Amino acid sequence: MRIDILTLFPEYFAPMIRMGPVRAAMEAGSLELYVHNLAHFADHPKQVDDLPYGGGAGMVLRPEPVARALQALPEGWVVYLSAQGVPLCQTRVEMLARKPHLILLAGRYKGLDERVIQRYVHLEISIGDYVLSGGEPAALVLVDAVARLLPGALGDQASSETDSFQWGILGPPEYTRPLEFEGMRVPEILRSGNHAAIARWRRKEALRKTLLRRPELLRKIPLSREDRQLLDELLREEGLR
Ligand SMILES: C[S@@+](CC[C@H](N)C(=O)[O-])C[C@H]1O[C@@H](n2cnc3c(N)ncnc32)[C@H](O)[C@@H]1O
Repeated sequence: MRIDILTLFPEYFAPMIRMGPVRAAMEAGSLELYVHNLAHFADHPKQVDDLPYGGGAGMVLRPEPVARALQALPEGWVVYLSAQGVPLCQTRVEMLARKPHLILLAGRYKGLDERVIQRYVHLEISIGDYVLSGGEPAALVLVDAVARLLPGALGDQASSETDSFQWGILGPPEYTRPLEFEGMRVPEILRSGNHAAIARWRRKEALRKTLLRRPELLRKIPLSREDRQLLDELLREEGLR
């Protein structure tokens, strides 16, 4: 897939391109990533922002540089990273990873002129209910989450299948060496070699974390008969029943 990022701070993205799943996906040929400086699309004088109509503090990004940049690019699915957008979640990440071409708009100051959003943006996406000073960190988050679903991004693609939200719930706890750390031992079952029992344990512990931390997620996924049994056990173990 191809991703273009439009930003006033292109240098923000340099480290991401040099490391991790984004770089791996680019090297594997499953991701083409381009970062464009919005200021290069500004008119003379090179002014990308202006005072807000109606008065008040802060500057607003003018619509023309954004429109010009979008018109210069091949057609793509345009996302504006915005505190006013729909929340980013794994289902949306998967939807975005299926798009052949994404164009990400990172705002600054008071944000983008509303008219350019109405005309060009397909979806506004927020990474959480807080205000960032720019869309760049949000674009980083989105690109990282999308890239790790692309072929070649992860050393072992199967590893993402047991991550949080891949099942619609939180992921199970993970352990590595040493066997004992500060008096705490790795759960015996993980060393049993019994793959069915390990899978059941992981599912149960994933359900436990979700029940205790994000119970609302359990209402959004179809629960199998075994899940219901595990949840019954968990409710008793946690003294919730
Ligand atoms: C200071 S914010 C503007 C906030 C805007 N006036 C508002 O009330 O929503 C500047 C830029 O940061 C980005 N931004 C801020 N919070 C964000 C969030 N939670 N998710 C995604 N992008 C965000 C947007 O691109 C926005 O244009």
